[in-house]
Amino acid sequence: MNVRITGTGSSLPGKILTNAELETLIDTTDEWITTRTGIKERRIAADGEYTSTFAAEAARRALAMAGVEPEEIDLIILGTVTPDFPFPSTACIVQDLIGATNATAFDLSAACSGFIFGLSIAEKYIRSGAAKKILVIGSEILSRIVDWQDRNTCVLFGDGAGAVVLEASEGDHSLLSTHTFSNGTYWNLLYQPGSGSRNPATDSRTIDERRIYLTMEGNDVFKHAVRAMEEAAVKALDANGLTTSDISLLIPHQANQRIIDATAKRLGLDSGRLFTNLHRYGNTSSASIPIALDEANRQGVLKPDSKLMLVAFGGGFTYGSALINW
Ligand code: COA
Repeated sequence: MNVRITGTGSSLPGKILTNAELETLIDTTDEWITTRTGIKERRIAADGEYTSTFAAEAARRALAMAGVEPEEIDLIILGTVTPDFPFPSTACIVQDLIGATNATAFDLSAACSGFIFGLSIAEKYIRSGAAKKILVIGSEILSRIVDWQDRNTCVLFGDGAGAVVLEASEGDHSLLSTHTFSNGTYWNLLYQPGSGSRNPATDSRTIDERRIYLTMEGNDVFKHAVRAMEEAAVKALDANGLTTSDISLLIPHQANQRIIDATAKRLGLDSGRLFTNLHRYGNTSSASIPIALDEANRQGVLKPDSKLMLVAFGGGFTYGSALINW
C-alpha cells in the first residue's frame, strides 16, 4: 500500500512583527537579524488565538483540497511543543473543532522535527493497513514561550500551522521513505526549562528566574543542525538508490538561511532547488515544513512525479527526512 499526500493547508496569524518593530523592543537591528538569519518578519498570534486555532484551520484547508470529509479521518497526529494545555492533547481539541469524530488523535513532541516524525508514524499506519486517511499537522505559538527580553532567541521564532492529508493509494505518487533520528546527548542545548515536572509552573521560582522560557546554545545548535540535516537527506537518497541530482526540490526546516545554505552546499544542491519562506515567518518549529509545503504546492512549484525531499532538525536533538514522489 502506498501513501499519497492528497491535500495541504496552512494557517498563519494576521499580525506581522517586522525586524524594524523589534528594533524598538530590544537591542537589535534589522541588519543583524537579516545577515545572521535571513528573517525579515514573523507572525504573532493575537489574544484568543491558540495552537489549536491555527491547527484546525490548516487541517480544514488540507481536507478541502483533498476532498475528504472530517468524519473520514482515522488518525490525527499533531506535532507541537506549544500545546494549548499540557493535557489533553491539542490533537483532541482539533478533532473536536473540525468534527473528525471517527479519528484517534494524539500530540507528538519532537520539537522542530515534529512534522517529519508525524509523517513517519502516519506512513507506517497506512502501510500496515491500520488507517486509510490521516491528518498530520504541525502547529506552534512559539511567541508564548520565547523570552522577549532575550535578543539571542526572540528574533528567531514565529507562530503558525501547516497540515497534510495522507491517504492509502495504489499509485506511484507516494511517500518513498521516511527516516527519523534522535540524539538525546544534547537535549539541554535547546529546551524549555520551565512548566514541566522539573520546574513546575506552580513553583514561583520558575517564573521569577525566567525558567519558563525557551533557552538555546545557538552556535552549537547551528553546527549540529547542518550535519544532522545532511545525514538525514543522504540516508533518504541511499535508501532509494538516488543521488542529489534526482531531487527536484528540497524543503528544509526553516530555522536559519545560513543553516539551509550550508546544508544545501554539503548536499551539492543549487539554490534553485531550495524552497524557503523563513524571511516571512521565522522559525515556526514543527509548522515550518508543512507551511512551506503548502505554499510550494499552491504556487504550482511541485510537478507530478518530481522528487521532493523534506528534511528537519530540532530540539532533542531530533532530525529526519521524507522523500516523496509527488
Ligand atoms: N541582535 C544583535 N546582536 C545580537 C542578537 C540580536 N538579536 N543576538 C545576539 N547578538 C549578539 C551576541 O550577543 C553576540 O555579541 P557579543 O559578541 O558581543 O557577545 C554577537 O551577536 C554574535 O553572537 P553569535 O552567537 O556568535 O552569533 P551567530 O552568528 O552564531 O548567530 C544565531 C546567532 C542564534 C543566529 C545562530 O547561532 C543560529 O542561528 N543558531 C541556530 C539557531 C536555530 O536555528 N535554532 C533552532 C534550530 S531548530
